[in-house]
Amino acid sequence: MRRTSEISGFYKLTPAERLKVVKEFANLTDDDVRTLQSTGALPIDQANRMIENVIGVMPVTLGIAVNFLINGRDYLIPMAIEEPSVVAAAGNAAKIARVRGGFTTSSTGPVMIGQIQTAGVKDPHGARMAIFAAKNQIIEKANEQDPVLVSSGGGARDLDTKVIETQAGSMVITELFVDCRDAMGANAVNTMAEAVAPIIEAITGGRVYLRIISNLATKRLMRARAIFEKEALGGEDVVDGIIAAYAFAAADPFRCATHNKGIMNGVTAVVLATGNDTRAVESGAHAYASITGRYRPLTTWEKNSDGHLVGCIELPVAVGLIGGATAVHPVAKLAKKILGVKTATELGEVIAAVGLAQNLAALRALATGGIQRGHMKLHARNVAAMAGAAGNIVDRVAEAMVKERKIRLDRARELLDQLTKK
Ligand code: MEV
Repeated sequence: MRRTSEISGFYKLTPAERLKVVKEFANLTDDDVRTLQSTGALPIDQANRMIENVIGVMPVTLGIAVNFLINGRDYLIPMAIEEPSVVAAAGNAAKIARVRGGFTTSSTGPVMIGQIQTAGVKDPHGARMAIFAAKNQIIEKANEQDPVLVSSGGGARDLDTKVIETQAGSMVITELFVDCRDAMGANAVNTMAEAVAPIIEAITGGRVYLRIISNLATKRLMRARAIFEKEALGGEDVVDGIIAAYAFAAADPFRCATHNKGIMNGVTAVVLATGNDTRAVESGAHAYASITGRYRPLTTWEKNSDGHLVGCIELPVAVGLIGGATAVHPVAKLAKKILGVKTATELGEVIAAVGLAQNLAALRALATGGIQRGHMKLHARNVAAMAGAAGNIVDRVAEAMVKERKIRLDRARELLDQLTKK
């Protein structure tokens, strides 16, 4: 039998039927199929309504970062991530921040930008002015699309236009500014952008092509700041090491990518746990990091007059509390309940604080003993479990291996033998 991936009507099958097709294609065993069928907290029917061609779910670990004090309020932070050490590191950094009152946050508010691209305009600069003149009509048309958003205090607020020179000629870009309140806003903004396009075509005499949200959400910036006491960090040397690490990232894009990746470890984990769009936040963060034309760190680190470390973060965080997976995924709903956030903006600010904590933890580890020490402990536990250790024996085998700096399966088996013989 020839194997082909061209399968018509795959989308019409039930998840179980699709799984049968995949089983044959990939020679899966009955056990493999059972693994894919165990969907845990997300029932298969619900999963089947979330995306297309569903065959199962991909469970990812959910941890809780403790110790977060943000604007005087205590938070437990749900984080969905497959990488060890991240959750513990966030909690450790939050504990140090607590000494000086925790994190303080602020933001611009939940405004997203929708772009409408018009090409083939004879007089692009004149057209730009004509769009400004029709601003009220355009905004009214946009707001007609979403009465629910408008009644909850949101909606299209303003617009801007620009003429850009491209390899395909001049284009007039109209940008709608939409207050999305507690929604991430992609649906609302895209609907509005599509609805106003005919007005813009009529005004400019050009042809509208793209009508889409921008993930570079510069009007939905979230900020957080914290003071990390030098003694709690481990002394002045540690503070200087962290500042030097930041200077390295600020001067070198190769380091900066990893610096920002560490921040996104925290940011993305909370975005995912709450059922939000991780790619939207990631693209926005990295684009914002490059907004000056140079890729820069999303955080800043400096010393205050007492020699304590001051950390700040500013990045766009387009997340919602309503709509999409945030509203239907049972675990995402519980993550929101654990967080206890009242608005999407509060969630965005909490996420910024987690990003800052994550960065502090990484830089502190890198500037002192290195990050492998923490990783090794977890790695050793995994190796001990692989060797057959169970219960508290896992920790005893792991600790012995870390002490000896010999984390190997053969050594784990020997240690396990010795401990169980005893
Ligand atoms: C690993 O996931 C993240 C770090 O590499 C971040 C950093 O280097 O700043 C530790």
